[in-house]
Amino acid sequence: MSCPYQNFTNGDDAQKGEVLGTETGMLYSDYLMLDKVLNAQRMQSSEINRPVHDEHLFIITHQAYELWFKQIIYEIDSIRDLFNTITVDESRTLEILKRLNRIAIILKLLVDHIPILETMTPLDFMDFRDFLSPASGFQSLQFRLMENKLGVKQENRVKYNQRYQDVFGDDSTAVEKIIASETEPSLCDLVQKWLERTPGLEEDGFNFWAKFKTNVYNLLDQEEAKAKALSDEFVRNYRLMDVNKRRDVYHTIFNQDAHEALVSRGERKFSYKAMQGAIMITLYRDEPRFSQPHQVLTCLMDIDSFMTKWRYSHVMMVQRMIGSQQLGTGGSSGYQYLRSTLSDRYKVFLDLFNLSTFLIPRNYIPPLTTEMINQLNTNSRVSKPAN
Ligand code: HEM
Repeated sequence: MSCPYQNFTNGDDAQKGEVLGTETGMLYSDYLMLDKVLNAQRMQSSEINRPVHDEHLFIITHQAYELWFKQIIYEIDSIRDLFNTITVDESRTLEILKRLNRIAIILKLLVDHIPILETMTPLDFMDFRDFLSPASGFQSLQFRLMENKLGVKQENRVKYNQRYQDVFGDDSTAVEKIIASETEPSLCDLVQKWLERTPGLEEDGFNFWAKFKTNVYNLLDQEEAKAKALSDEFVRNYRLMDVNKRRDVYHTIFNQDAHEALVSRGERKFSYKAMQGAIMITLYRDEPRFSQPHQVLTCLMDIDSFMTKWRYSHVMMVQRMIGSQQLGTGGSSGYQYLRSTLSDRYKVFLDLFNLSTFLIPRNYIPPLTTEMINQLNTNSRVSKPAN
């Protein structure tokens, strides 16, 4: 798309002050449709001739949020398309990375919007709160679409939150969008398919997982032997307990049934194979072909982090504005309900955060074969078709 400003002057040849663009009528305000955007702030308090100054800020803040939600959804959809093609050409990874990073930065900005609204005091808010009811952020369609498209699953939502669809019952277009966002592959689903195809996982090839498992158990055996040799009984028992605990933790990634049990409880999200891909990329991130995928994983964590930070900052603001005992205008228990959405169940890329649990010292990382080194240094991979 061309720059909207280029219609104003004709570059070097333009005469000073010459205004172009009259042919298309594309002036700044037309291009941005400012007549609509800037006339969309209807203060309820003014409608009844009792204008409350801070209602203006309240409306502008929410509208700014909705505009940014729109941009985030636009980016998520485009990234899902890039992941969801028959082949994932590695040249696309940079574009995916760029857009994921953009989402993370927008979310960071959205967290920073909260202090602006907090310049309004609870008493100021009280002056117009009654005019809102029963309007509530709970009814933000775009927020739900954003969550669903990222990969928040219905079964992981807290009970009250599962009712968000009811809100849109009378709006068939909204319901269609919700259903589509719940049934189409989410970003999290597509990321998993991509991770499952990580080169080096092939059992008849480098077979990273088998090598990794062997090295982890070698490491644990050695640590156990060292612990047993300790003379101080207290320290010995503590170290042995620690090794046993780590064995249990590793069991959850080396035993598929244990992994699936965690998935069914919502404590783990990734497929068994995707988990392997994520660990492999993290351990070999210095190899050229894993460098961008590793940054993709980091960006996904940033997105989850900022979503959680937003939830947390919003809850704090709600407590500051209405306390912890008042119901929300949307009918929930307010602060108590919002606090319950802060759990890990809402972290879509939870497993990426927990990867550190499974990392091993560099000298235990299985060495790459010459074939693998060559493979990870070639930049022209076109991966196998997505299922
Ligand atoms: C004075 C400021 C605010 C207060 C007191 C407030 C209060 C609340 C309350 C009590 C809820 C729970 C649902 C209910 O209404 O019963 C809620 C949900 C929500 N609010 Fe706010 N809110 C404020 C500002 C904002 C802003 C600026 C946004 C930005 C879009 C926002 C977005 C949301 C969303 C998306 C939810 C649903 C969260 C979920 O269900 O996980 N809120 N808000």
